Amino acid sequence: MKTETFQWVLGIESSCDETAVAILHEGKTLAADLVASQIDLHQAYGGVVPELASRQHMEAINYLIDQAMKQAGITLQDLDGIVVSKGPGLVGALLVGISTAKALAYSLGIPFLGVNHMEGHIYANWLSHEDIAFPLLGLIVSGGHTALMVLEDHGRYRLLGQTRDDAAGEAYDKVARAMGLGYPGGSVIDRLAQKGQAGSYALPRVQLKDDPWGFSFSGLKTAVLNLLNQKALKGEDVNKADLAAAFQEKVTATLTEKTLAAAKAHGISSILLAGGVAANSGLRQKMTAACQEAGMKLYLPHLKYCTDNAAMIACAGYYRLGAGLRDDLTLNAEPALGTAE
Ligand code: KG4
Ligand code: ZN
Repeated sequence: MKTETFQWVLGIESSCDETAVAILHEGKTLAADLVASQIDLHQAYGGVVPELASRQHMEAINYLIDQAMKQAGITLQDLDGIVVSKGPGLVGALLVGISTAKALAYSLGIPFLGVNHMEGHIYANWLSHEDIAFPLLGLIVSGGHTALMVLEDHGRYRLLGQTRDDAAGEAYDKVARAMGLGYPGGSVIDRLAQKGQAGSYALPRVQLKDDPWGFSFSGLKTAVLNLLNQKALKGEDVNKADLAAAFQEKVTATLTEKTLAAAKAHGISSILLAGGVAANSGLRQKMTAACQEAGMKLYLPHLKYCTDNAAMIACAGYYRLGAGLRDDLTLNAEPALGTAE
């Protein structure tokens, strides 16, 4: 007999280039947490190839679920609920996870639910901290999104602003590619930046006067690309560590200052970071220092839960299943799902 307490929740993530499966016990303990990264596969192309991603997800997913069951020491029949990323992401990739979740839930006769991948990123914090009190000012920074949100309660979010062009992670990836640093570029630039002098190159800071909580990173990215082109034309060398440091300084200063200003403007004294770029060392340092100075509480996700994983999906789903939310077999992928939907 299944209970409504959701002892064992299976989480599935396949929105982009990681196939991930996790088993969450009683909403807090991870009995299994597996990620099969496809980065090696896509590296040769300088970015994610959607068709290859879907095929790789199909090859990996059943094996990962099997392994997760073994690691947790349970069988499929012990599961009380299944949660899967429904979007945003690559449609073919998402459908692999969704079809798997549906088939399992149907055959086991248990509830299942599709959750917003970006909401999953937010819940990485519930896997990283004991107690989190609402309201929170959330900065969600990933490869596809950069958004400021007021998090009023579980499942109650208000979007304040987002990027009007490149997401922060996307700018990192494009700059890294132009600098010949490979894919994905965020962590490479981050490591390089720590060895460079940010003041060595002057890069612009884009101000959006009509959109106080919006972001724009394409101007900064283009400035880096122009600088690289001009240096190449003149046959001059670029100090990659210095350029990485200058780029990182601009991105992290913008993110930090805007987040603190938004928190103050909305009378919120707790800040929460989420998404792949929340792993950035410069951003973590700047946010920590700024929150300390402003007397604000800061929630940073553990590094291992910043980038895509299924633990965060299981955790977001645990709260939503507990609140009575369910999907049926008509659930479809929502590749363009917004951050706050
Ligand atoms: O959240 P995520 O895993 O996937 C999306 O939902 O998009 O984020 C991936 C993004 C990539 O753009 C990657 O370059 C960036 O996060 N990223 C970083 C760092 N680690 C990952 N960006 C800056 N610094 C890092 N240390
Ligand atoms: Zn993600």
